[in-house]
Amino acid sequence: MKRFSTTLLAASLLTGVLAAPAAVAAPPADDTRPPGLAKKDTLRWFAPEDFAIGTAVAGGGHHLDQPYPDPFPNDLEYRELVGTEFSSLSPENQAKWEFIHPQEDVYNFGPMDEIVEFAEEHGQVVRGHTLLWHSQNPAWLEEGDYTADELREILREHIQTVVGRYAGRIQQWDVANEVMLDNGSGLRTTDNIWIRKLGPGIIADAFRWAHEADPEALLFFNDYGVESIGPKSNAYYELVQDLLADGVPVHGFSFQGHLSTQYGFPGGVEENLQRFADLGLDTAITELDVRMVVPQGQQPTEAQLAQQADYYTRMLDACLAVEGCDSFTLWGFVDKYSWVPVFFPNQGFATVMYDDFTRKPAYCALQETLAEASGKIKHPAFALRDC
Ligand code: G3I
Repeated sequence: MKRFSTTLLAASLLTGVLAAPAAVAAPPADDTRPPGLAKKDTLRWFAPEDFAIGTAVAGGGHHLDQPYPDPFPNDLEYRELVGTEFSSLSPENQAKWEFIHPQEDVYNFGPMDEIVEFAEEHGQVVRGHTLLWHSQNPAWLEEGDYTADELREILREHIQTVVGRYAGRIQQWDVANEVMLDNGSGLRTTDNIWIRKLGPGIIADAFRWAHEADPEALLFFNDYGVESIGPKSNAYYELVQDLLADGVPVHGFSFQGHLSTQYGFPGGVEENLQRFADLGLDTAITELDVRMVVPQGQQPTEAQLAQQADYYTRMLDACLAVEGCDSFTLWGFVDKYSWVPVFFPNQGFATVMYDDFTRKPAYCALQETLAEASGKIKHPAFALRDC
């Protein structure tokens, strides 16, 4: 298994000696690669033009309980890679209700502003996440004693305020996140406060309000467990057609892609993307990661890493094959900030880089697949290694 950090690679190219991985990677300021070359060794550089390759920007959520400072503002090496490796950014938690609207009359825009400004400085697009969801809503909302009219007004005001603030600066919004029951038998009516209290029609209203606030943004349904053709994705396929027939501004359907090597790769991903594309929708992969079972203190096996690389590649291949699937986002790119070990004991290693930012086979496989799709050739200086 080859594990090179970009910094180490540069050092070995200059000295002709392959250094052992350092315990702590050097900060970007020490990057000794020839100027201009580093950016040609990234996912972003190899991606076809107009194909957005994205990452979630770590912050909020599970990070708040971890023994490290807020990643995006504080981890400079991480921040550097967010800027160089990717062309699309998604706030992992920073635009969710509990974070951006912590009290009824208080908005906390700072962290999301920072992401949007960073994206603009780095020529990146942004996916907004999310406006109508059952999870990560603030207590004031979930436990508040509001009438249906008041709740409806709260949602309208929130959507128009948040979407309006970033109007013209967000490429895609996950308007409705995870609104379908896992078995596809219908919408979440018990745990989703909006649908429970206002009925299913509130989904169409959310799309209409978002569209009014930013007519340029592409508005998406986003969910997990919909990668294959099956009851859950079928339910969306019906719902979306009904909404489109009613003239509701739905523009896209996206697969999150939280996969695991302990399960088979979902069947028919390309066909499934294609049928939504055939409805006239854009499609996207929005939260890809591939976790694996690794007992605490142990490392993944070569076989697990190879299977993980295969899953990442197959998901990318499926997206590349479908016209209108132009956005492919990883739910984080470095293991140390992944949500997976916090949720799944004895599982992890779900992203494409180890804790020290060295690249896994999955990273290399993605880079290679993007290079094949774009026809870009690897710079000779990087031909010394797999990726
Ligand atoms: O709200 C509780 C709080 O009451 C409690 O005191 C605290 C103690 O640990 O936990 C809080 O919940 C945390 C939650 O974020 C809200 O801040 C969870 O522990 C924490 O694990 C959770 O993490 C986020 C998760 O969404 C919440 O669903 C992750 O950072 C974030 O990566 C993850 O992202 C989601 C996407 O938005 C949607 N699709 C699935 C994806 C992975 O779950």
